[in-house]
Amino acid sequence: MDSASTVFKVQIGSGQEVQFTQLRPTFAAQAHGFDLSQPITDAQRDAIDQAMERFAVVVFSDQKLDDEQLFSFGARFGPIEGAGTTTFQDRRRLANAQINDISNLQADGTIMPADDRHRMSGLGNLLWHSDSSYKTVPAQYSFLHARVVPPEGGETEFADMRAAWDELPAKLKERVKGLICEHSMIYSRGKIGFTDFSAEEIKRCTPVPQRLVRRHEKTGRLSLFLSAHIGRIEGWQTPEAILLIQDLTEFATGPQFVYQHKWQVNDLVIWDNRTTMHRGRSFESHTYPRDLRRVTVQGSASTLRDCV
Ligand code: OGA
Ligand code: MN
Repeated sequence: MDSASTVFKVQIGSGQEVQFTQLRPTFAAQAHGFDLSQPITDAQRDAIDQAMERFAVVVFSDQKLDDEQLFSFGARFGPIEGAGTTTFQDRRRLANAQINDISNLQADGTIMPADDRHRMSGLGNLLWHSDSSYKTVPAQYSFLHARVVPPEGGETEFADMRAAWDELPAKLKERVKGLICEHSMIYSRGKIGFTDFSAEEIKRCTPVPQRLVRRHEKTGRLSLFLSAHIGRIEGWQTPEAILLIQDLTEFATGPQFVYQHKWQVNDLVIWDNRTTMHRGRSFESHTYPRDLRRVTVQGSASTLRDCV
């Protein structure tokens, strides 16, 4: 079967059906048959959960949503994480404190100047990562909705960490299976040379331990839990740790594992942070506005609890 054209159909009651068309050989799908501006039924939510277990990234097009609708939709899948990134809690362009402002805009709607700290820290999103991997209980799903997109660039890329694990050479699997990494925003920002943190911010960003190989609580599948937020491996010398993480990241983000999403206004993309990594791509961010909004559903436990 040609996997790129696989269609996954789910009955949602009273003769209705929704469909998911697979986009890449191992993951990612385009959803059909949803209007997310209306409250979704339990059957619709279960269909999305099923699709997420299979595809890990699901794209919904033409969904005109305001912040409240985006929040209500996300909240159907579990408790929403507080926004206001762990590092900076002073930025408030958006009224709802649980919506992450993924934009290059200031509160007055103009484009941030080059030396804006939020802008510089936000550039960390261009590194491959998993959302909130620096929290004790890392994120489950992220929901990202596009309001304004630039004419060129600014795509978001996703990589399938289950497929990457499956394809990893056996010897390497053995080597990495039991490793525990330390994650912090300070590490990811440090990788792009952003080190301007206050003592209080550093304290708030105390590294948290996470398994490098984790098991999905429902499907039982293993995946690599990589992220730019990783700065150490427990019991390892740091240079060796950084180089291993870099090698694994390079492997796991090879083209066979990646889906690139080219944003249209009113696209909504959901991804599972437990089984994928993602990164933003650059665009002319001093010239064009790009305004995306994100809500994030909390995971259920630290990865240290996983049985691997
Ligand atoms: C995010 C993120 C990347 C992008 O919203 O979590 O990493 O392309 N976004 O904006
Ligand atoms: Mn992210």
